[in-house]
Order: sequence, then C-alpha cells, then structure tokens
Amino acid sequence: MKKRIVSGMRPTGKMHLGHLHGALLNWKHLQEEYDCFYFIADWHALTSEYANPDIIRQCSRDILIDWISVGLDPDMCTFFVQSSIKEHAELHLIFSMITPLPWLERNPTYKEQLKELTQRDVYTYGFLGYPVLQAADILMYKANGVPVGEDQAPHVELTREIARRFNYLYGPVFPEPDVVLTPTSKLLGMDRRKMSKSYGNAIFLTDTDEEIDRKVMQMITDPQRARKSDPGDPAICNVYSFHEIYSGKDLVSRIDRECRIAEVGCVECKKMMAENLKKGLAAIKERRKELEADVGRVDEVIEEGNRKASIIAAQTMEQVREAVKI
Ligand code: TRP
Ligand code: SF4
Repeated sequence: MKKRIVSGMRPTGKMHLGHLHGALLNWKHLQEEYDCFYFIADWHALTSEYANPDIIRQCSRDILIDWISVGLDPDMCTFFVQSSIKEHAELHLIFSMITPLPWLERNPTYKEQLKELTQRDVYTYGFLGYPVLQAADILMYKANGVPVGEDQAPHVELTREIARRFNYLYGPVFPEPDVVLTPTSKLLGMDRRKMSKSYGNAIFLTDTDEEIDRKVMQMITDPQRARKSDPGDPAICNVYSFHEIYSGKDLVSRIDRECRIAEVGCVECKKMMAENLKKGLAAIKERRKELEADVGRVDEVIEEGNRKASIIAAQTMEQVREAVKI
C-alpha cells in the first residue's frame, strides 16, 4: 500500500510560475510514489476573501485545469473541493473544542498575516482557526505526509498536536502526519521579490507570449550591472535562474561565462530566456486549451474526486463520532 499525502491550495488567484516551481511540480513528482489527495481549499480562501466569494468560485475551476495541464494525473491523484465534503466542517468543529487558544495565538503564520493583510480585516474567529480547519483537512484522510512549503510547516506541527490531543482524550483515531518539505523555488518575481499575485510581479501560466516578452523585459537583473560594458554576476540574477530551468545546458554555461566578462548584454540575454520560457510553457497551454474545450471532462474529474474523498471522510467521521460518543 502506498503512503498517503494530502495538500491543498487556496483558490484566490491564477496560478503563476511561483506555484508551478514551488509546489505543483513537486506534487507531480510525488504522484508516482504516494496516494495523493490534492484539493481546492475554498473555505480557507473565504478566511481572507469573504467579501469576494466570486473570485473563489471562478478560480477553483481554473486552478483544477492548471493542475491537470501541468501534468498532475487524475488517474493517479484524487482531486476534490473542500466545501463539497461537508465532513471537514464537522471535524473542524470538534477539533475547535479541544484546541487550546494559545496554540493558535502563538502560530507564527497567523501573527505574520495579521500584519501583512492590512487591506482586509482578518481579525476574525475563522482566521484564527485557520490551522484547525487545516488539521481537519489533513486528518480526515489520515495522511502520512503533507507536502508544503516552509511557511506551512507550523500548521502541520499544530495538526500533529491536535491529533495527539484527540487520541489522548478519546482513543487512537488519527496518525500524526509528517511534513514533506517542498524546496523553495529560486524563481523570483520581476522585481526580485517573492513571486506573488498581490505584488503584481508574477508570470502566470495563462500569460500570452506577448505578456511573457513584456514581463521578461521588465525583470530586474544584476543591479550592479548598469551598463552593458559592466561585467555581471549571474549568481544573483533572476533572469539567470530562469535560464537554469528553461534553457539548455550549453546556453546556461555560455550565459554564465559571457555575462561575467560583459560579452552578452541583458537585453539579449532576456530575449533568449523569454524564447525558452515560452517554449517551456507551450505544452501546458496546449493541454489547457484542450481541457477548456472539454468542459465535461473537468466536471467528471471533480465529481469522481469528490466521490472518493467523501467515502473516506464518511468513514473517518463514523470513527470520530464513535470515539467522542456524540
Ligand atoms: N494553508 C495552505 C496554504 O495556504 C492551504 C491548505 C489548506 C493546506 N488546507 C491544507 C495545505 C491541508 C496542506 C494540507 O498554502
Ligand atoms: Fe542577468 Fe543575463 Fe544580464 Fe547577466 S546578462 S545580468 S545573467 S540578464
């Protein structure tokens, strides 16, 4: 029997290269080895986007299409929508009864987000309880592992603590899942900050070739290299990081050499990178187009995933009710 992993994404915007290289390609890699449950965390999206639920609905479907387009295989993974499996809400409620408030208040992600999300009021009950819902998502399927980035590791730790506390109070129902750490993507946004929709610095999987050209031309390179005659340092240049992923070995070593002796200019270097990036994304776009034309296929995938997930969720909740005796 394969070990099981569970991971989710909040549908708050379009998928970009940060998602692709920071999560999705790792998910794809894991699908060979694990029994994968990947879901759209639409209730989680509501914690910050409660005033714009339209975005959540529109994105959910788009994200699923992106997942399949990048090579996640519906025959190997179970894709489902959190809000379609109502058991998540019940398990969240039970966990909320046994989770001490200080566990949530000291959560580093919570403290950080309170500071960061200044545009919206996220001083809500649901937002504080975000990791409790996440624990329900994970434990519902008795996951052995949770593939997430470093920023989410505290949430998995909290999940383990909630599992332990439940088992101690009511009997052994839940395994304690491990973090399966996703290496952080080296690809930064056009402005060299972390790639993020909210920074306006992202290249999206759905960007046209013209948009990609324009964005690549805007990218900040080695800031020390003001003129073409100044030698550059590829090691600190974001354009070079893209070359490393999207260009062949020969071109990468040529850029590395010629940048350092100021033989290649940044404009030329970017043009070559943009060509390779566009080529690299072409197959994904092609598959997306096919899926968009076949509406029924995507609905089928979601229905089938929801069906599989709900069978397990129903079983787990039987055991939970049996253990709690309510
Ligand atoms: N909190 C995760 C994020 O923002 C999304 C998420 C919700 C999740 N539930 C999950 C991830 C369960 C892994 C497992 O990225
Ligand atoms: Fe970056 Fe290329 Fe310019 Fe060197 S030549 S600084 S690698 S964009």
